[in-house]
Amino acid sequence: MTDQIATPDDALRMTVFGTGYLGATHAACMAELGHHVLGVDVDPGKLAKLAAGEVPFYEPGLQEVLRRNIDAGRLRFTSSYEQAAEFSDIHFLGVGTPQRRGEFAADMKFVDSVIETLAPLLTRPSVIFGKSTVPVGTAERLGTRARELAPAGADVEVAWNPEFLREGFAVQDTLHPDRLVLGVDRDRPGRAEAVARQVYAALLDEGITFMVTDLATAELVKASANAFLATKISFINAMSEVCEAAGADVTVLADAIGHDVRIGRRFLNAGIGFGGGCLPKDIRAFMARAGELGADQALTFLREVDDINMRRRTRMVELAREACGSLLGSRVAVLGAAFKPDSDDVRDSPALNVAGQIQLQGATVSVYDPKAMANSKALFPTLTYAESALAACDGADVVLVLTEWPEFRKLLPSDLDGVVRRKVIVDGRNCLHPTDWRAGGWVYRGMGRP
Ligand code: UDX
Repeated sequence: MTDQIATPDDALRMTVFGTGYLGATHAACMAELGHHVLGVDVDPGKLAKLAAGEVPFYEPGLQEVLRRNIDAGRLRFTSSYEQAAEFSDIHFLGVGTPQRRGEFAADMKFVDSVIETLAPLLTRPSVIFGKSTVPVGTAERLGTRARELAPAGADVEVAWNPEFLREGFAVQDTLHPDRLVLGVDRDRPGRAEAVARQVYAALLDEGITFMVTDLATAELVKASANAFLATKISFINAMSEVCEAAGADVTVLADAIGHDVRIGRRFLNAGIGFGGGCLPKDIRAFMARAGELGADQALTFLREVDDINMRRRTRMVELAREACGSLLGSRVAVLGAAFKPDSDDVRDSPALNVAGQIQLQGATVSVYDPKAMANSKALFPTLTYAESALAACDGADVVLVLTEWPEFRKLLPSDLDGVVRRKVIVDGRNCLHPTDWRAGGWVYRGMGRP
C-alpha cells in the first residue's frame, strides 16, 4: 500500500500503552496524523497480530489505517517498556479499567501497572497523557506516584485526555472528535498543553474545540458524558414501559420529543437497553467513586438508570415466553449477539444475556451474529450457534431480533416464511417495520409499541 500522507515536519514520537479498542485505535490514528508511534502491550498475541496488520477485533476502517501506517514505517509495536521509554517522552495510557469482580468500582490494576513499570524508566522530562476512563482523582494520584518513581522526578507530568470514541466509529471519532478535552495539573504548570496542541495540530486546524481543564474536571467530563448517555437511554426505556402499559408507541413518542432541539432524537432508541464494555461499568464506577467522595446521594439516580436498563433484558425474556407459551422445549432463534451493530464486542451484551437466560429456562436457543460469533462462543459456549440468520431461524417457535444489524433490518417476512415453525417475531431493538411483518402474516411484537 502507498503512503498517502506525508510525515509533517513537526511530527512527534509517542508511545501508546494498551492496544485494545481504545489504544490500538489511538496508536493507528496518531500515526495517520503523521506522528511516529510505538504501541505497547503485555499481550504477545495481540502485538503479533497488530504488527502483521491484523486488528484483533472488528472495527470498520481500522485495518486500513493500521496497515497504511505500518507500511509507511510510522507505526510499530513492542512489549518492551525499556524500548518505549527510550523511544519517546510523550506517552499515552489507554489500558482497560474493567469493573472489579463483585464490586461496582473500577479495577485500576492495569493503569497502575503501566505507571509502576514505566515511571522508573523515565530519565528525561516526560508527559504521560491518560486516556482511560478512571475514577476522579486518579490522574493526581498517578502523577504523584510517577514523580516518586521516575529518575526524572519532578519533570514527569501526568495530564488527562479522555477518549469519547464509540465502537463502530472509532477511527472517525478519533480523527474528527466532537471536542478534545485536556486536564492539566494546575499546581504544576508544565508543557502538557503545548505538547497536546502539537499532537492534535491537524485536528485543531480543522477547528475542533479544545478545552483545557483541571485534572478532576477532565476525568469527570468522561464519567458524566457516559452517565448522561446511559440516562437518556434508560429514560426512553422507562417511557417504553409506560407506553406498553398505556397502549402507546414509544418510537413515535421518541420522534416527537426528539424534535425539540433541547432533547434531540439521538440515543432515544428504546429496546433491550445498553451494554458493552463502557456504559454499564462506567456508571457503576461513577457511583462507587461518588460514594467514596461522600457525594453518593448525587448519583443515586444512576442506580435507577441501571435497574431500568437491566429490566429490559428480563422484559425481553418475558416477551419470548409469552410468544412461546412456555420456554421449556421451545426453539428460539436469536438474531444478534454483539452489544450493538458494527461491533464484534459481546462484553455485557444485552443480546447474549437474553439468549443465555432463555436457554437456562429450558429453550433451545440458536444464535447468529454477522461478526460476533467467535467472541460469543468463547463467552457462552453452551448456546447453539448457526451459520446464518436463516439457519438460526430453522424450525423456530419465535425469532428474536436483539442487535439491529443492517442484515436483520433488511429481512423480509417472505425470507423466513418457510423456515420457521411459527411466524412470530419479537423486535428487541424496534428496528423492523411492524406493518410489513403483520402484512406478511406474522405476529410482530416490539418493545413499547402496541
Ligand atoms: C459509549 C459512548 O457512546 C462513548 O462516547 C464512550 O467513549 C464509550 O461508551 P459504545 O460503548 O461504543 O460508546 O456504544 P454506544 O454507541 O454508546 O452504545 C452503547 C449501548 O447503548 C449499546 O448497547 C446500544 O445498543 C445502546 N443504545 C444506544 C440504545 O439502547 N439506545 C440508543 O438510543 C443508543
